[in-house]
Amino acid sequence: CGIVGYIGHREAYPIVLKGLKRLEYRGYDSAGIALYDGKDLKLSKTKGKVVELEEKLESEISTQGTIGIGHTRWATHGEPNDVNSHPHYSNSGDLVIIHNGIIENYDAIKQELIKRGYTFTSDTDTEVLVNLIEDVKKQDDVKLGKAVQIALNQVVGAYAIAVFDKNKPDEIVVARLGSPLAIGVGEKEFFIASDASPFIEYTTNAIYLEDGEMAVVRISKGIKIRKIQDDSLVDPYIQELQMNLEQIEKGGYDHFMLKEIYEQPDAIKDTFRGRMLVEQGIIRMAGVDDHFEKFLQAPRIIIVACGTSWHAGLVAEYIFEEFTRIPVEVEYASEFRYRNPIIHKGDVVIAISQSGETADTMAAIKLAKGQGAFVFGVCNVVGSSISRETHAGAYTHAGPEIGVASTKAFTTQITVLTLMALKISKAKGILSKTALHRYLQEMELIPAKVEEALKSNEHIKAVAEEYKNASNFLYLGRGYNFPVALEGALKLKEISYIHAEGYPAAEMKHGPIALIDEQMPVAVIATRKGHYEKVVSNIQEIKSRKGKIIGIVTQGDTEVRGLADYVIEVPETLEALTPLLTTIPLQLLSYHIAVMLGKNVDQPRNLAKSVTVE
Ligand code: G6P
Repeated sequence: CGIVGYIGHREAYPIVLKGLKRLEYRGYDSAGIALYDGKDLKLSKTKGKVVELEEKLESEISTQGTIGIGHTRWATHGEPNDVNSHPHYSNSGDLVIIHNGIIENYDAIKQELIKRGYTFTSDTDTEVLVNLIEDVKKQDDVKLGKAVQIALNQVVGAYAIAVFDKNKPDEIVVARLGSPLAIGVGEKEFFIASDASPFIEYTTNAIYLEDGEMAVVRISKGIKIRKIQDDSLVDPYIQELQMNLEQIEKGGYDHFMLKEIYEQPDAIKDTFRGRMLVEQGIIRMAGVDDHFEKFLQAPRIIIVACGTSWHAGLVAEYIFEEFTRIPVEVEYASEFRYRNPIIHKGDVVIAISQSGETADTMAAIKLAKGQGAFVFGVCNVVGSSISRETHAGAYTHAGPEIGVASTKAFTTQITVLTLMALKISKAKGILSKTALHRYLQEMELIPAKVEEALKSNEHIKAVAEEYKNASNFLYLGRGYNFPVALEGALKLKEISYIHAEGYPAAEMKHGPIALIDEQMPVAVIATRKGHYEKVVSNIQEIKSRKGKIIGIVTQGDTEVRGLADYVIEVPETLEALTPLLTTIPLQLLSYHIAVMLGKNVDQPRNLAKSVTVE
């Protein structure tokens, strides 16, 4: 979910509305806004997207007021409908709240409140929370800030909340545990949001609340931050934001996803910039350098992640094992955290997360830390929860990724992980100085080669046109490109809703081959390096079952061309670096198919960019 709030001297509505549009990538089942115009508290909400809210709201209520909060939701409790949308009122109608997260013990609290005469109109945990706050406020006769604090100490779960009282419209109370919350600090005005994108055009000063902190934000008196649990005061730390407006707008592209696909040459460059001294054969990464012994001594590396980041972890497994000879396990964070995993002293855990907020990944990190592991984060969002929770880390520097389907985050994650593996390999004496030099030289050429791969866009469009009506797709690859096949299939599923499976090419004969007929397009990654002949045999197997073959091949390839229905070329590179190139056509293929099918590419149904619930 995404939350936005404003308090100050401007009209709140346009700020909150635009902010919600920026945050919509975080969830878009339903949306709502509450405003106070100096007389009345007004609220409008609806199932559906922020534009639908905009239409409804403007015909329903006046949009005046200098204090307001808004919410865009990814449903957890209660189906997405009008009543379950946020904001939620308290029973008296005085308090109004927005909430991102989950209150786990909401039912017990709800039963208690019902006994005390409270009634509920929605199925949400959030409505329970706002009434608990109201109840505490009345019972204990305390101010809103105190009531929020007492209530939150009774709650089990995760949250980022913003709440205000219409009788005290000069303050908003916010709090966070497990879900992100940033406060934009302006001149006698404050902005509240799940990330900084809603307020970047008004101020570059931001405070990121830490887990377990709350803040009372007052126009007249500024911000007071406290620890929820023990009431101790915290000095506000104001950060200067580096993001700019251009980075979070579409800049001439039809969709964020396409923009982000095209940003990959620069994103990869930004990721390795300053880290590679090519001529000297040196890789510098502060987070790794500071703890280098831990990596060198590690008996094992465990990678935890979700979604696309998990696929980057799989690529890293191949790279790390090949170059460092350290055994690697790649785990879905959600499985790892609940299966009592074995973690040895000395194990290095690498957590990969674009957003740095994914709840399951966060929980896996805490578990590993609790068992004494050294935890290293690979995140894109600077200052995110995971980047702060880990012992050390390396940022990907891909810039904001807004399209829900991850693209540039994936290739930059692979870039960071590759550099790490090469660095460790060199120090362990596995990779010679000359060999490292060669890898670094090649890495430096990758942005231009990605650029080259992007030139197939029009051709890929034609391939998309041909297969857009297929109801199933298969993606195959071997070695370094097996995870790329998984990622290709995931991209297609996510945005076009066509069923797709990624498989190791050789494993196809143990199952998926039964699905192949003349209706089935099969994208096969068959670059010249790495099991090429074996993949060619797999292609023969598909061909003899009349499957349609889309080959992702090295420039100039003739053998696969002779067999495939279509080939899409990528430039030649060293085998370990091929995923950075072979991913590109698969991203574009899914993009074009989704556009042709009229799907919402940037905000596919049921998904969210950052999943802060488990
Ligand atoms: C969601 C997103 C995916 C992403 C995954 C993990 O499912 O839609 O694109 O790969 O979360 O997110 P993270 O931010 O931890 O990389």
